[in-house]
Amino acid sequence: MTTNDALGPFRAGPGSLPPYLAGREAEQTACRAFLSELRYGRPPPREIVFYGPRGNGKTALLAWLQKEAASNFGLDVVRLTPAAARTETKLVERLLPASRWQRLAPERISVSGLTWRPGEERPPPLDAALAARAEKKPLVLVLDEAHTLEEEVGGALLNASQQVGRDLPFLLVLAGTPDVQARLGTMNVTFWNRAERYPIGRLDSEAAAAALQRPLEDENIGIDEDALDHMTSDSHGYPYFVQLWGEAVWRQVCPAAPEMPRRIARTDVGAAQAGVDRRKNGYYLERYDELMERDLLRAARAVAGAFEDRALLDDEQLKAAIRRGLGETCTPERIAEARTVLRHLGYVWRPEVEPAWEAGIPSLMDYMQAYVPDPADSRASLP
Ligand SMILES: Nc1ncnc2c1ncn2[C@@H]1O[C@H](COP(=O)(O)OP(=O)(O)O)[C@@H](O)[C@H]1O
Ligand SMILES: [Mg+2]
Repeated sequence: MTTNDALGPFRAGPGSLPPYLAGREAEQTACRAFLSELRYGRPPPREIVFYGPRGNGKTALLAWLQKEAASNFGLDVVRLTPAAARTETKLVERLLPASRWQRLAPERISVSGLTWRPGEERPPPLDAALAARAEKKPLVLVLDEAHTLEEEVGGALLNASQQVGRDLPFLLVLAGTPDVQARLGTMNVTFWNRAERYPIGRLDSEAAAAALQRPLEDENIGIDEDALDHMTSDSHGYPYFVQLWGEAVWRQVCPAAPEMPRRIARTDVGAAQAGVDRRKNGYYLERYDELMERDLLRAARAVAGAFEDRALLDDEQLKAAIRRGLGETCTPERIAEARTVLRHLGYVWRPEVEPAWEAGIPSLMDYMQAYVPDPADSRASLP
């Protein structure tokens, strides 16, 4: 027994580190290759962007990366959110506190075309600050929620990253919602094409099973195959739901005395189902409210209907569904706007390089079908 008995190892919640980061081997391998370049003082081939709907584990992956870079590669890591870097000056101050930049020797700053001279009163420009830090020690700058970057500071950061990362061991890693591409595009037109991009979506069933099984094994708790299968399929591989299930079955087994051999059976999972459903429904209701605030319930309901008999929608099918939801007379602009918002919210997204749309949370589609009247039914009125 290694874990606090009452709490258990699982962690359901935004930004909560899972006990086992499952199914991200490809991303981890790619990140390690980049970190390895930095360790030898070489510039990375390009920047990295993780994008995908909320609850899929972007923040968890960034947390892993931060730890990996610092502990296993001995790199300097700065982790920020846009809220802590509202202006370029604020960002510079986070990277290079005044006490440090005022002491910088002139030769420490070596980015081409700089106007700033060490010893000046004003803080150095961002590229100089990044260069000064990366010259001292290879630097990884990790920025979560990149879609909320202010345009001006975001533009400065992407440009500085391009300039500094060309010659120095500096790696910028961003994470954001499925529409982060458009947001970053307004800041720097070439950034997206330049960056190494990873869609972070749901886990396949093997990874979802491992996310549950491994932490239980670490606590000497076994699990019957049918119990694991049920939890895996009920979570649809959505990492947040996987953790919900982990927490719920933990509560089923933890009252047993630690010295007793423990094993989770299908009946334990059955007993936990109502609690999991309650929390899942609470989560769906938050998504429902977000859509209601944006007047998109009907569009979302129609999109849910379109997913009923297929897992992917092409552009035309998505457009037709949104039109059905908004009303046949709505303008193409309004449809495009609704699609942008649905994508921003992660209601739909494109995980592949094909123009095919997937539901961010497939089981949310059932909830919408259950609670929002079908727009095709003319008598239907919204709750
Ligand atoms: N690879 C993973 N395996 C298992 N659980 C995960 C994984 N990634 C994230 N989680 C869990 O999923 C939930 C959402 O993760 P988070 O990183 O906050 O997602 P995002 O930043 O994409 O919204 C958290 O409870 C986290 O512990
Ligand atoms: Mg996050």
